[in-house]
Amino acid sequence: MMTDDLLARHRAVLPSWMPLYYTEPIELVGGSGRRVTDAQGRSYLDFFGGVLTNMIGYDIPEIREAIERQLATGIVHTSTLYLIRQQVELAEKIARRSGIPDARVFFTNSGTEANEAALLVATNHRRSHQILAVRNSYHGRSYAAMGVTGNRNWSASGLNPLQVAWLHSGDRVRGLLARLSDEEQVDAAVEDLREVLATQTAGDVAALIAEPIQGVGGFVHPPDGLFAGWKKVLDEHGILFIADEVQTGWGRTGEHFWGYQAHGVTPDLLTFAKGIGNGFALAGVVGRAEVLESVPAISFSTFGGNPISTAAGNAVLDYLVEHDLQANAARVGAILADGLRSAVGGLDCVAEVRGKGLMLGVEFVQPGTTEPDPALTNRVFEACREGGLLAGKGGLYGNVLRMGPPLTLTEDEAREGLAILVDAIRSAAGVAA
Ligand SMILES: Cc1ncc(COP(=O)(O)O)c(C=O)c1O
Repeated sequence: MMTDDLLARHRAVLPSWMPLYYTEPIELVGGSGRRVTDAQGRSYLDFFGGVLTNMIGYDIPEIREAIERQLATGIVHTSTLYLIRQQVELAEKIARRSGIPDARVFFTNSGTEANEAALLVATNHRRSHQILAVRNSYHGRSYAAMGVTGNRNWSASGLNPLQVAWLHSGDRVRGLLARLSDEEQVDAAVEDLREVLATQTAGDVAALIAEPIQGVGGFVHPPDGLFAGWKKVLDEHGILFIADEVQTGWGRTGEHFWGYQAHGVTPDLLTFAKGIGNGFALAGVVGRAEVLESVPAISFSTFGGNPISTAAGNAVLDYLVEHDLQANAARVGAILADGLRSAVGGLDCVAEVRGKGLMLGVEFVQPGTTEPDPALTNRVFEACREGGLLAGKGGLYGNVLRMGPPLTLTEDEAREGLAILVDAIRSAAGVAA
């Protein structure tokens, strides 16, 4: 079947608000390690991993075998009305690694549902529907998750079950806190939190939800330590802190296992999704028992943490730990970050090369200004594909190229991808090689 035909059929039957990448969309039909092949037989090095979700890579024997073992039992689904060994084992591992004392884990199918569960717990625990959220954030597509999403392009409805007050993001390129030193930015953001609490809330706020590095927001992140500044103020009021680790978890940032750890705080609730299933639908929320137990009625998820997804999750987590992929993310990520900074960081169309570990973004602007340049970003993005590299796009203005490859990326693959990226950026920007 030709992809052209598939594209027409896609457009005829799927909604247009679910975007496809590339002027000529591609169908990926095969994958191995960090490489995928499209229906035309073209091979790509994958630096986006299905939005940071193929965290270990494609066709990894240890993960495939774990799924096959579960399939061979004849049990794909039982519902959570029965004991699920794989689920209990994975919950034990995640609870231990979460850094949260006396932790409980509730499994869901997506990051949206994980955040929904965290918000359910927090609002019940605090008996308040007031939430603090961060500008330029993305937390999912349900009403509550959209309600705490600070990005107009991803807010498909103004209906909101929560009352939300907004804090500044850690954007260093534009906005009120841009161009401040790290220390000044932390002080200003903490002062902003105090002012927002005093002016936009009734005081009895349930929780603050924040991504350590904003994913959809183009890998914008505040200076290390900001969450500690915020948490001090939150603690004065008993307000809970929710870390959305859907993109930043599992060692992706290289320096830490969770993004929140860069700030020297422990969240009350932590949500996870994407990478832990390496493509199988697996997500959830972890929290202190005292907080997570604050659900005053039955609440359950038919598919959440089912035997197949948790078999995958166990295999993924074991693989990640045995191969110390966090250290790999730090080592290989540094090759990419240093290479990008030295080759293109000085171009006047590049506002910032940012991120941590294997979560790196390049923000494009009109030369010498902070005016976003989504057209240039798109040219770079298409040129990467032509060069054999899949990357992602993001940012409030669609002007950030995003790299979130599998954490198994090798040094050679990093150098290969870096060369394609640098060529794509220089040629799209019209800079001589
Ligand atoms: C930080 C963050 N939170 C939540 C979500 C929502 O996850 P899902 O698409 O699995 O519902 C995403 C998805 O991109 C995300 O990046």
